[in-house]
Amino acid sequence: MGLLIKGGEIVTAETRLKGDIYIENETISTIGTGLTVPPGTEVIDATRKLVFPGFIDPHVHIHLPFMGTFAKETHAAASVAALIGGTTTFIEMACPSRKEDALETYHTWKQKAEGNSACDYAFHMGVSRYDDKTEAQLMEVVKDGTTSFKIFLSYKNFFGVDDEEMFRTLKLATKLGVITTAHCENAELVGQLQQQLLAEGKIGPEWHEPSRPEAIEAEGTTRFATFVEQTGATGYVVHLSCAPALRVAVDAKMRGVKLHIESVLPHFLLDKSYAERAGVEGMKYIMSPPLRDKRNLPVLWNALKTGLIETVGTDHCPFDTEQKLMGAKAFTQIPNGIPGIEDRVNLMYTYGVKRGGLDIHRFVDALSTGAAKLFGLYPRKGTIAVGADADLVVYDTKYRGKISATTHHGINNYNGFEGFEIEGRPSVVTVRGKVQARDGAFVGKPGIGRMLRREPQCN
Ligand code: URP
Ligand code: ZN
Ligand code: ZN
Repeated sequence: MGLLIKGGEIVTAETRLKGDIYIENETISTIGTGLTVPPGTEVIDATRKLVFPGFIDPHVHIHLPFMGTFAKETHAAASVAALIGGTTTFIEMACPSRKEDALETYHTWKQKAEGNSACDYAFHMGVSRYDDKTEAQLMEVVKDGTTSFKIFLSYKNFFGVDDEEMFRTLKLATKLGVITTAHCENAELVGQLQQQLLAEGKIGPEWHEPSRPEAIEAEGTTRFATFVEQTGATGYVVHLSCAPALRVAVDAKMRGVKLHIESVLPHFLLDKSYAERAGVEGMKYIMSPPLRDKRNLPVLWNALKTGLIETVGTDHCPFDTEQKLMGAKAFTQIPNGIPGIEDRVNLMYTYGVKRGGLDIHRFVDALSTGAAKLFGLYPRKGTIAVGADADLVVYDTKYRGKISATTHHGINNYNGFEGFEIEGRPSVVTVRGKVQARDGAFVGKPGIGRMLRREPQCN
């Protein structure tokens, strides 16, 4: 049976028009006005609502062994939270540690997700070591449709790669035509500063930011950009958090380096004062790169408006308060990460489009279309067009509410955006034409999400 989404204002990264969308067999088959459809078609009235392409979160952690524990998350729960918040596709980081076999890890991540996600998903393949087996293994992963790599210039001796390994990864990525995403810091410097601070008795969460200052992120970003430039690779800086890192990334872009920039939800709305709160309240806000001085926030918003920051992800990576308290005696032991997959769309719509002067098409581009294009999902995902997957978000701009852990759908026991107002939320969310969420509730089928196999996207 078909589905008709009738009378909404269809907003893509480029266009805005009133119309109907008719869906058959999981894809959009017609877009027009006053469409006549076969009897028995389910009709969703989208009058006075916006209709967006399903949103894509390009930076998500779900299964994640990290810092002596595991992210407090499952594919079932995260995908439901994502859908309620309007995200219909996420890209998860498959992250082997240096000790693990890359291919085994890749299969573990795939198995964890398979049959459990209520929305579609893809992976970035983490490269944490480069040895004699790596090239053949990564070629197999790319052949399987995972056409983006992830490296960490941080987390020494765990996920982190050294410069030689970064070089070899980028050379291979260039040969295979895939994009490499990178967490840009300097593992050695962070380690040294952490030890120095602890030795001075500086153990609380407020010392996390001073242990990873802006200059260190800028250094990592410069180094990554230089390696991208010298290898002819295509690079993507994940979770860029501050003005100095932005400056060096933009400088590289301006001289023609194929470098793309992502920032993530927390860095647009939160600053380091949250992490300076006493005890576990501060620990809730420990992530890397850290929350920064608030003077960085308008810089990031402006860069988003002009498109220098191309995409907005979440870096969804929940740890509950019990896990955060593992770092009660040393900030270096606080698991890094914060949830956000449910809240990205509503918060960026509210504080960007409604209150911040962010153009609505830029919003769609940054939260959906841009990632689809960069990661080889477009035009199947990231737009509203005939032939595209019918991943759609009918958006109610009249809704008013507040974010709270008492009403969110994630399994984590706190929400970093507690009390933030939202002006708008998804009214109907479809995945390949199936209605999966309505007005803040999951109404669909669990486990229907598919892994999205992608082609190499760089040339
Ligand atoms: O603090 C963070 N960001 N945790 C997740 C791992 C990462 O660095 O992306
Ligand atoms: Zn990271
Ligand atoms: Zn991350």
